[in-house]
Amino acid sequence: MELIRLQNVLKQYDKGAVTALNNINLSIEQGSFVSIIGPSGSGKSTLLNMLGALDSPDSGQVIINGVDLSTQKDLSDFRRHEIGFVFQLHNLIPNLSVQDNVEIPLMDSGLSEKEKHRRALLFIEAVGLLDKRKQKPNKLSGGERQRVAIARALVNFPSIILADEPTGALDTKTGAKILDVLRFVQRSVGATLIIVTHDIDVARLAQRTIEIRDGRIINDYYNRR
Ligand SMILES: Nc1ncnc2c1ncn2[C@@H]1O[C@H](COP(=O)(O)OP(=O)(O)O)[C@@H](O)[C@H]1O
Ligand SMILES: [Mg+2]
Repeated sequence: MELIRLQNVLKQYDKGAVTALNNINLSIEQGSFVSIIGPSGSGKSTLLNMLGALDSPDSGQVIINGVDLSTQKDLSDFRRHEIGFVFQLHNLIPNLSVQDNVEIPLMDSGLSEKEKHRRALLFIEAVGLLDKRKQKPNKLSGGERQRVAIARALVNFPSIILADEPTGALDTKTGAKILDVLRFVQRSVGATLIIVTHDIDVARLAQRTIEIRDGRIINDYYNRR
C-alpha cells in the first residue's frame, strides 16, 4: 500500500537561485525500508523534510496516508502523531535523565504516568541502555546518546521513521548497532523507515535505494538480497 506520494515537488531557496528539489515524483510503500543517497548539497535533507512534513513544497503535492498536506491546518499535530525523527544532532535535554528524555514525545499521549514509564523502558531496553536510564545525557558517549535519541524517536510507535545520517558521526560498530535497532523496530511495528546516508554499505541494507543529484532522482532501485 502506498504511504507517501510526492507529485511534481519543487523546492527552491534564495529567491529561486537554488533549486533544492526539482520536480520530484516519488511513491513510498507502507512498511518499506528506503535509503536516500547522493552527494552533499544534492537535496537529501530537503527531501527527507518533505517526506516528514517538516517543510512544504513551493509547488507540487505531498500526500501522506492519502492526505494532501496542503489541506492540513496543524502540521505539527500531524507530525507528532505520525512521524519519528532521528537526526544526527540528537538534541537531548541536558538536565533530564535518559528516561525522562525518552518520555518527552509521550507528554500529550493521554497515557497514564505508569504506562509512559513502561513504554519508555521498553524502548530504552531495546536500544540496550536500561542500566543508564537514570543518567543525564552528558554522562553518556556519543553512541549512547544517539541510541537515546532513537528510543525517543520510536517511543510513540510512529508509522514513519525518518533518519538523517543516523550513523554519520559514529564508529562502524556503533553504527551497525543503531541500524539493527532501527530495523528491529521497523519490522516489529511495521513502520516505514527512510534513512539518508553517505554510506553505500548502509544504503544497501534497505530494500530500495533512491539516489538524488542536483535535486533530481537519478536512480531508484531495489537492492539484491
Ligand atoms: N534553509 C536553506 N536556505 C537556503 N538554502 C538551503 C537551505 N536548505 C538547503 N539549502 C540548499 O539546498 C540545497 C540542498 O540542500 P540539502 O537538502 O541540505 O542537501 P543534502 O542534505 O543532500 O546535503 C543545497 O544547495 C543547500 O545549500
Ligand atoms: Mg543533509
